[in-house]
Amino acid sequence: MDLQNKCVVIGVTGGIAAYKMADTAHLLCKLGAEVHVIMTENAAKFISPLTFETLTNRRCMVDTFARDFQYDVAHISLAKAADLILVAPATANVIAKLAHGIADDMLTTVVLAARCPKLAAPSMNTAMLENPVTQDNLAALSRYGFEIVKPASGLLACGDVGKGKLPAPEELVGHVLRRLAREKTLSGVRVTVTAGPTQEALDPVRFLTNHSSGKMGYAIAREAMLRGAEVTLITGPTALNPPPFVQVVPVVSAKDMFSAVKKALPKTDILIKSAAVADYRPANQAADKLKKDGGDLTLPLERTDDILGWVAQYRHPGLFVCGFSMETRDLLENSRRKLEKKRLDMIAANSLRTEGAGFGVDTNVITILTANGQQELPLMSKAEAAARLLDAIEARRS
Ligand code: CTP
Repeated sequence: MDLQNKCVVIGVTGGIAAYKMADTAHLLCKLGAEVHVIMTENAAKFISPLTFETLTNRRCMVDTFARDFQYDVAHISLAKAADLILVAPATANVIAKLAHGIADDMLTTVVLAARCPKLAAPSMNTAMLENPVTQDNLAALSRYGFEIVKPASGLLACGDVGKGKLPAPEELVGHVLRRLAREKTLSGVRVTVTAGPTQEALDPVRFLTNHSSGKMGYAIAREAMLRGAEVTLITGPTALNPPPFVQVVPVVSAKDMFSAVKKALPKTDILIKSAAVADYRPANQAADKLKKDGGDLTLPLERTDDILGWVAQYRHPGLFVCGFSMETRDLLENSRRKLEKKRLDMIAANSLRTEGAGFGVDTNVITILTANGQQELPLMSKAEAAARLLDAIEARRS
């Protein structure tokens, strides 16, 4: 429940994309937010206030002068209660009003009265969006502190293809989560996370790899982003959607990952290496597909670079390095040995033999080791484990 105890006001204005806001409101409610929806009169022609009332279990406000709200002086009470206002879809007309302080209905009045963060998601025909008047108004809103959600491109309701679509509900919710879900304890901190497996090519058809799904690393990247960090996610091939608002650097082999880490390192304050990097790769990579020829095949393998080993040698002062250790036996002894050998500040140890830990699953059981400490965490979701790991890193850094 990432939005528990958060009050989100959604302002829906009169564009066809208003229909997407039903899903958005519902998703925000499911995340625990107290959601209030205000519609303009034109919005209420596209989608019924009853839809929002049913989904949010609250009165949907349209008329400034209606007397049946749960609040006295509703526009001021609601403006004060709001932790965030999301105006979506924001039509050119309402953007123009907001940019000039016009408050002639419930929605524009609440927005004008609110001091909380405000997001506006423009949604309209491409020509209207690109009109310099609209662009000027959007620039004015940015100056006044609004965050403008970039419109998506594609087939518009009018039949044109171009910029101006309201992004999908999940994307809008992502913007709200980034602003509200966590305290910004990592604001301005640059976090680099490696995740997933590497693939070591044998020929154009085959490769050596491992079972890493990338879930743990992606969860860490998301949690760090929510805490305000500037996140770089260096990821081997996975089936996951990367979290929003992180810089994704896709890599394939251990060699690629090594180059990406070397490049990111000077701009990194915290390095978390959750990737399962191959320790060996085929010594020869065939240019053409290897053909079978009756007998058995023996493959010579060579060592890959130990990325953390390199980091240990070249790390800059102030860099915090957290490694991961996956073992099938002697978990703590082996992990502590890696902590020392690779000069890590911390290592998260997990055993493939523990139920609920390891590859592919959504849970993990990790033990956080430092030079003089050991914290055993119980079975929890990878999202929760990511949060506990970052708590430990933040505590250690301070
Ligand atoms: N790692 C790395 N470069 C490699 C291999 C591993 O940076 N070529 C990192 C992993 O991302 C992880 C940590 O080292 O954070 C531990 O990985 P692991 O494979 O368990 O450790 P090794 O030192 O390779 O030990 P062993 O293979 O003996 O278990």
